[in-house]
Amino acid sequence: MTRLSPPARILIIDDDPSVCASLKLLLKLNGHSSSIAHHPSEALEYLTAEPFDLVMQDMNFSRNTTGAEGLSLLKAIQDHDPDLPIILMTAWATIELAVTGIKQGASDFVAKPWDNPQLMRIIETNLQLSRSEPVNANRQTLDDQFDFTGLIGDDPALTRILQVVARVARTDAPVLILGETGTGKELIAEAIHRNSTRNDATLVKVNLGGIPTSLFESEMFGHVRGAFTDAHRDRQGRFAQAHQGTLFLDELGDLDAHCQSKLLRVLQDQQYQPLGSSDSEHSNCRIVSATSRPLSELVEQGLFREDLLYRLNLIMVEMPPLRHRRDDITVLARHFLAEISAHYQLPDRQLSQDANHWLSVQDWPGNVRELRQTIERTVLMTDQVIIERVHLSDQSTLGGDPGQLMTPAGTTLDQMQAMMIEASMARHQGNISQTARELGISRAALYRRMDKYSIAHDSSDEPGDD
Ligand SMILES: Nc1ncnc2c1ncn2[C@@H]1O[C@H](COP(=O)(O)OP(=O)(O)OP(=O)(O)O)[C@@H](O)[C@H]1O
Ligand SMILES: [Mg+2]
Repeated sequence: MTRLSPPARILIIDDDPSVCASLKLLLKLNGHSSSIAHHPSEALEYLTAEPFDLVMQDMNFSRNTTGAEGLSLLKAIQDHDPDLPIILMTAWATIELAVTGIKQGASDFVAKPWDNPQLMRIIETNLQLSRSEPVNANRQTLDDQFDFTGLIGDDPALTRILQVVARVARTDAPVLILGETGTGKELIAEAIHRNSTRNDATLVKVNLGGIPTSLFESEMFGHVRGAFTDAHRDRQGRFAQAHQGTLFLDELGDLDAHCQSKLLRVLQDQQYQPLGSSDSEHSNCRIVSATSRPLSELVEQGLFREDLLYRLNLIMVEMPPLRHRRDDITVLARHFLAEISAHYQLPDRQLSQDANHWLSVQDWPGNVRELRQTIERTVLMTDQVIIERVHLSDQSTLGGDPGQLMTPAGTTLDQMQAMMIEASMARHQGNISQTARELGISRAALYRRMDKYSIAHDSSDEPGDD
């Protein structure tokens, strides 16, 4: 079911009369009025004559299928009105053309033939977004209107992100959250769901880095009994669980090529088939995704599909590393100190001025998570009421702490590696991607070492793309 926005005026530009007619009817059924232009010049005449809220534009208008005409029309419309949302329509085979258009500033794209509910969602989302006012409030005012519980800090960089979340939370726009490990991407995903109209339904979190390729479809789409040897009963997939709610695709950058194309298909059609079933199912979920890997570099290297990226990043936010918002360090440290002391029922502690200074000049490669862990270890290891710099630096792994690697005499290099892997796995609750990242090796290299040292992992896991 699509949430309807107020009636809009939409310009349909396509040389195929049947496409125009069916689109016009679909829009009418959804309460919107439209005009039809069969040719670029006709489209521009319409646009100068009356105001429109959105444009649906085909990419090819002649036998020449390079898309050049489509791209130059796109440019002409943008010159006429830079704020007008433009949705490109193109065949699956020429989806790259749409991607070029997106880079040139089109708002969104849809592949022909389309699925009506999915097309309406894309249209409604773009209307909602273009009608949503930018939010310029400060942290205090944001907190009066939105629920940003648990997100500590009022550095301008974080506030700007919360302003974006405030503006888009109530739309269905897909949001992509980038940023280094430990910067709070998951907290932002939770805040988006909490402040959306879907907050009565579930937020389903999927760690894409943790799903072996061979299990991807059954995990995401579910399966019916008997679909494969171990499928003893029907199982709901993540898309079904997230119906009416939000699906959080975490570690998106870890997805291999095969799974990327499966995911793109379902996002394109909003339809999927559980394994072993011949019936298509439909999921209405809002997609929020996150990764700490450099997605645009992965795209350049051909490791991540550009069309999938543009399906997911209608709204994109990049979490600043902690070292770029140093003013928040003291605030966060004080918050964690109180929270952790209360959690362990320990007396209140305070940080000395020198300790605060030390915290605020560290680089924190593990960002907020690392700051929190440093405070937690310190609280547990010292019984001083005033925490000094030395207490912190003793517990921190920053700058290489020899104490962390102290091993009994006679320990071999292999034993040490095995210990490090086990400790890191425990810290990351067995998450292979996060462990590999912390240790600075690829997932494949981690699997090899785990096999070598007989460290247990799910044997059906397969190394991904590396
Ligand atoms: N602004 C913040 N206020 C309070 N706690 C925070 C903030 N940002 C992050 N944290 C805490 O830091 C830890 C890491 O946050 P989170 O899991 O959201 O990071 P992430 O960006 O998803 O990391 P990764 O890429 O490793 O998955 C969590 O314990 C979270 O509660
Ligand atoms: Mg995360």
